[in-house]
Amino acid sequence: MFISRAQAARMIALCLIPATALGVALAVCTRNAAAAQESRTGAAQAEPPANSLAARGKLIFDQTPKLAAPYVGNKLSCSDCHIDSGTKDYASSLKDVAGLFPSYSKRAGRVITLTERINECFVRSENGHPLPAKSPEMLAMIAYMQFLAQGQKPGQPYAKRGLAKLPELAGDATRGKQIYNQGCAMCHGVNGGGVPPVMPPVWGPDSYNDGAGMSHTPKMAAWVYKNMPQTNPGSLTPQQSYDVSAYIDSMPRPKFNPIYKSF
Ligand code: HEC
Ligand code: HEC
Repeated sequence: MFISRAQAARMIALCLIPATALGVALAVCTRNAAAAQESRTGAAQAEPPANSLAARGKLIFDQTPKLAAPYVGNKLSCSDCHIDSGTKDYASSLKDVAGLFPSYSKRAGRVITLTERINECFVRSENGHPLPAKSPEMLAMIAYMQFLAQGQKPGQPYAKRGLAKLPELAGDATRGKQIYNQGCAMCHGVNGGGVPPVMPPVWGPDSYNDGAGMSHTPKMAAWVYKNMPQTNPGSLTPQQSYDVSAYIDSMPRPKFNPIYKSF
């Protein structure tokens, strides 16, 4: 039985918290281990055919720092943000994305290919370097995204693509610090460094850089609102999501390398 990195992270995450509440720990861990082949949303995840290029791509999604090492400058995998190997709604799902590129990018100010979009996440979210278009890692990730887009109507985006739509609010980092220390620090650490690869770092040298989508408070708030805290997503209000994101955004992280600004 193959358990992906993200699934293993969830098992450990769910086992860490109840470990403090004596008695329930064992029951919760056992139940969760049994459900490990299911995605977080409970739906069975389609697996690419064994040993296919797409299967290799899925592994790279789940273990990016290890399997795409020359191009990664931190300790984050794609699946740390694109949860359930890119299949979770409102976690910037990558389900139908392959068929939607080439596509106009507001950030780049021009039409970009899927390869270029993946490289945007490499130079920003992965704080790394762009992959050659024909590199085995890039071809594998594209094959996986094409697998995820099977059955898509051409040009028609998946309804739950991207992030939640939240009202525009002002985040308060002081309130956010309290939310973080109470509801996030047990997994991501008081110092933001997490316990990679199981608990991803949210700030500091091993996290995404300041050019990443996640480093914009409104984007992060929309992501956090639907996806964190991992054991109880949906429990934060939009205001609390903004506050905790404003706090995380106020902390130090790597600087975006301007030589990659065309991405
Ligand atoms: C730190 C979090 C983070 C990591 C790590 C990350 N991404 Fe992203 N990614 C995002 C965010 C945020 C968006 C944009 C969502 C939005 O603006 O709607 C995005 C968007 C994308 C898109 C475009 C999606 C669309 O709907 O058009 C692709 C493709 C993508 N990422 C691929 C990857 C790949 C491949 C990796 C791993 C090499 C990766 N990302 C790693 C956060 C991340
Ligand atoms: C039970 C452990 C746990 C708790 C509590 C938790 N997280 Fe996470 N977090 C994770 C894991 C594991 C991931 C990787 C994605 C996944 O598998 O769900 C993640 C991913 C993230 C990411 C994207 C990856 C990165 O490192 O930047 C952010 C941002 C984040 N969490 C913020 C928060 C915030 C804010 C809170 C509190 C409101 C929180 N988390 C609470 C375990 C946790």
